[in-house]
Amino acid sequence: MTRIPVRSAAGPYDIQIEKGLLSALGPSVRMICPSVSRIGLVSNPVVWGLYGDRLQSALEETGFRTVVALHPDGERFKTMESVMALLNTFLEARWERREPLLVVGGGVTGDMGGLAAALLLRGVPLIHMPTTVVAQVDSSIGGKTGVDHPLGKNLIGAFNPPRAILADPALLATLPLRERRAGLGEVLKYAFIGDPELLALLEERVEGLAGEKFDETLWEKVVSLCARDKARIVSEDERETGERMLLNFGHTFGHALEGALGYSGILHGEAVAVGMLSVAAIAEKATISAPGTFAFMKSLISRAGLPVAWPRAVSFSEIRPYLVRDKKTSGGQVALILPEAPGRVRILREYDSNLLPNGIFA
Ligand SMILES: NC(=O)c1ccc[n+]([C@@H]2O[C@H](COP(=O)([O-])OP(=O)(O)OC[C@H]3O[C@@H](n4cnc5c(N)ncnc54)[C@H](O)[C@@H]3O)[C@@H](O)[C@H]2O)c1
Ligand SMILES: [Zn+2]
Repeated sequence: MTRIPVRSAAGPYDIQIEKGLLSALGPSVRMICPSVSRIGLVSNPVVWGLYGDRLQSALEETGFRTVVALHPDGERFKTMESVMALLNTFLEARWERREPLLVVGGGVTGDMGGLAAALLLRGVPLIHMPTTVVAQVDSSIGGKTGVDHPLGKNLIGAFNPPRAILADPALLATLPLRERRAGLGEVLKYAFIGDPELLALLEERVEGLAGEKFDETLWEKVVSLCARDKARIVSEDERETGERMLLNFGHTFGHALEGALGYSGILHGEAVAVGMLSVAAIAEKATISAPGTFAFMKSLISRAGLPVAWPRAVSFSEIRPYLVRDKKTSGGQVALILPEAPGRVRILREYDSNLLPNGIFA
């Protein structure tokens, strides 16, 4: 088992990563919450259909009773209404403040379950069990929770660091291949912003991660490296005043693209892949990056089975409003996180705004 400590203003917690962790879930939860007899399970029907029975029996074998609350599957249900429905279930079950919620699913479930845990009785203990690549390497770590609003993604939320994160990479085997590849968008992000070990591993074996056949051991290694990166960054900068910003590499253009497409037809990790190439195109045009950086990134992203062209249907004028609306905007200009070389990035806060359209690359 890999155990990665995370520091947080709310107290330290561990990320536990091990294939097969699901079967040993009961004792792990017992260690985290020694004196409770009831656990709330938050999930969605897809994940529950795949793992609900095993989850419940693993917990019941250890003597826990469970209360299950499922939200509908999909980003379009990442709303306050869904969170309210989750809260209703636990309030009707007369929840007590020391009784934890175990949130099992992808980033949508994690963000909503995390917010529900923050709001329920002004806060109950939260344990994440992430089941997608995005959730295991990114969204479950660092305490950000939230829901979308018609005016934009993740505009409502709270910081709510968990008591623990229990990640079982074996669960990634059932992900649709497209979802698993999209997760590689976030994995590549860590490599590009500054993880030489991960970058070397991806250069050598990215096809092994993006292929039809699921390589449990390789994925366990990759999840561990990424989780270590994110844990280090959020431990240094929980509130995103400095280094945590780097995690938005590729996200400004990625989010804008998702927005312009109405959050349909493209997965987040795919949009991030295009977004990383957008900033690489800008850096290349501005001669900020070392020669060959764009080509190197494009090749690795393509080998990961991710898109490497800007969608023809979306013009710069369509994404411009989303760039301005980006949460990282201050004083009207969005900070750009640009690659200087594979594995090294730089933040540019002031620049000629004529640079931005270069992010729409061929
Ligand atoms: N809080 C953060 O710091 C943070 C960071 C990054 C992303 N996010 C959020 O995460 C969300 C995206 O997360 P996601 O990509 O995990 O999407 P998701 O939660 O929608 O999951 C993707 C799909 O996979 C299914 N699924 C989940 N686990 C599965 C499994 N093991 N086998 C088969 N199918 C499975 C889900 O039901 C869903 O249909 C976005 O809402 C984004 O805003 C949050
Ligand atoms: Zn992301």
